[in-house]
Amino acid sequence: MLRRLWLAILFCCGLIGSGRAETPSAEAEGRRWLAHFQCNRCHDGSGLPDVPQEKHCTHCHQDILAGTFRIDQETLHTWQSHLTSLNVVPSLAGIGVRLRRSWVESFLLKPHDLRPALPALMPRLAITPPVAKQLAAALVPKEATPTPLPKGNLAQGRLLLESLGCATCHRFSGVPPLAVHSATFSLSTAQLQNAIALAPDLRFARERLQTNSLASWLRNPKQLKPDTLMPSFALSDEQVADLRAYLLTTPLLPQPAPPPFVRLPVLARRVSFEEVNERVFRRICWHCHSTPEYAKGDGGPGNTGGFGFQGRGFSVTSYSDVASGVLDDKRNRRSVFSPVSGPEAGPDKTPRLVAVLLARHKELAGQVTPGLRGMPLGLPALSAEQIQLVESWIAQGRPQ
Ligand code: HEC
Ligand code: HEC
Ligand code: HEC
Ligand code: HEC
Repeated sequence: MLRRLWLAILFCCGLIGSGRAETPSAEAEGRRWLAHFQCNRCHDGSGLPDVPQEKHCTHCHQDILAGTFRIDQETLHTWQSHLTSLNVVPSLAGIGVRLRRSWVESFLLKPHDLRPALPALMPRLAITPPVAKQLAAALVPKEATPTPLPKGNLAQGRLLLESLGCATCHRFSGVPPLAVHSATFSLSTAQLQNAIALAPDLRFARERLQTNSLASWLRNPKQLKPDTLMPSFALSDEQVADLRAYLLTTPLLPQPAPPPFVRLPVLARRVSFEEVNERVFRRICWHCHSTPEYAKGDGGPGNTGGFGFQGRGFSVTSYSDVASGVLDDKRNRRSVFSPVSGPEAGPDKTPRLVAVLLARHKELAGQVTPGLRGMPLGLPALSAEQIQLVESWIAQGRPQ
């Protein structure tokens, strides 16, 4: 009787079963969020169903580059010459056995550049801390207990990184530059190009990887991630220990801060909408700020919504679309040319359209501008000349 009473108390207070019951529910919530943020429009291997080509940012770009997209040859060639973003994106296959849950959680909240040869970055989505926790639980449901840091010969580890040709694909910032020994891997030219784009900077391995997964990864990467382009190397136990020791424990220099962004003065010459459109809107922004006719029923995440955003109703497909502005949080229209107000306002009355471009430079330097999301979302910041062009066009009264 007494025992039953105790059990009842323990249940009421959530002291029994919480460990078991809570984990699956955080995971289930996380899976719901994966669908909400449409992570599968860029990533394969998320566990969500495939999306059709006209919705999949990466697959459609890949089909165009491979020449398998059904369209006339002339258009295809023009498109191919413009496409640089989201042509390859790391798949999330096997992420649960490789990455640390806590790392995934913090990365989703504050994504940063992991792959020096990949132009696109993980976008800064509207993910709150509790949601990041649930997403991380869904992606890394069970993490193995960390093993102690390896003991191995650091100098040997470094020599192996060089002699095995690891630097063909990988950069390792923070250590003296690695020599690139040419090695042949059984990959086609296109595969090698993708492997280089997808190879992470090895400085992050120590914070990202579950320590015990690294040895298995070095022995046979495909066992942990079937679709990886990283080749397998026949390594002895001693070689694995030396490589692991160097990767996880060699001292790292801090990452240098990116050079401060210098804004250029507005241009004296006339800047037309056509020029801004050609070099900025049509070239970089329109896919996320398009009209449904262009993007097959979907105006893109920045216009009709997507990636968990409601959509700001902002299309850049014509002069009048740009002039009609964006929806604010209360769904009222506001101009993109008037200065930003509130905490994000700068001293110099920067128009919203320019402020979001400057905010992207700040994001890439690790700072978030309150109330502003950097544009272009998830892509490298615009050059000083491109921003100057937009700014000059607005300063000149936006000629047609
Ligand atoms: C617009 C495309 C896009 C969307 C949408 C997107 N991602 Fe990403 N994600 C990327 C790119 C590109 C990278 C590679 C970034 C890098 O290497 O610097 C990345 C990297 C990651 C990584 C690191 C993986 C690794 O192996 O390094 C994780 C984890 C991740 N994304 C999770 C998510 C989740 C979860 C969502 C949905 C909430 C999501 N992503 C939505 C483009 C996207
Ligand atoms: C139906 C195929 C298709 C889909 C789906 C698609 N794109 Fe594109 N994308 C293209 C084409 C075609 C171009 C090149 C257009 C041109 O030449 O101006 C392009 C260009 C771009 C560009 C500018 C060029 C570059 O490489 O930087 C960006 C950015 C972009 N797309 C992002 C996205 C994002 C984000 C998504 C998912 C929300 C997406 N695209 C979905 C076909 C597609
Ligand atoms: C042909 C290109 C290529 C070569 C050569 C290569 N790798 Fe990789 N490596 C990759 C790619 C691509 C990934 C990313 C895994 C993925 O997402 O598929 C990776 C991932 C890794 C990771 C995980 C890093 C992380 O942060 O997730 C480590 C560690 C690693 N490689 C070590 C090595 C070592 C050590 C060597 C040499 C013995 C080596 N790699 C050679 C392409 C390569
Ligand atoms: C990968 C998709 C993507 C690309 C590329 C992109 N945007 Fe956006 N944009 C979005 C999304 C999503 C939102 C809504 C963000 C939100 O609600 O917080 C948005 C919002 C905006 C807003 C409204 C911001 C506000 O606070 O009202 C402006 C202005 C904007 N984008 C300009 C641009 C410009 C200019 C470019 C090209 C240089 C660009 N965007 C490229 C997805 C994108």
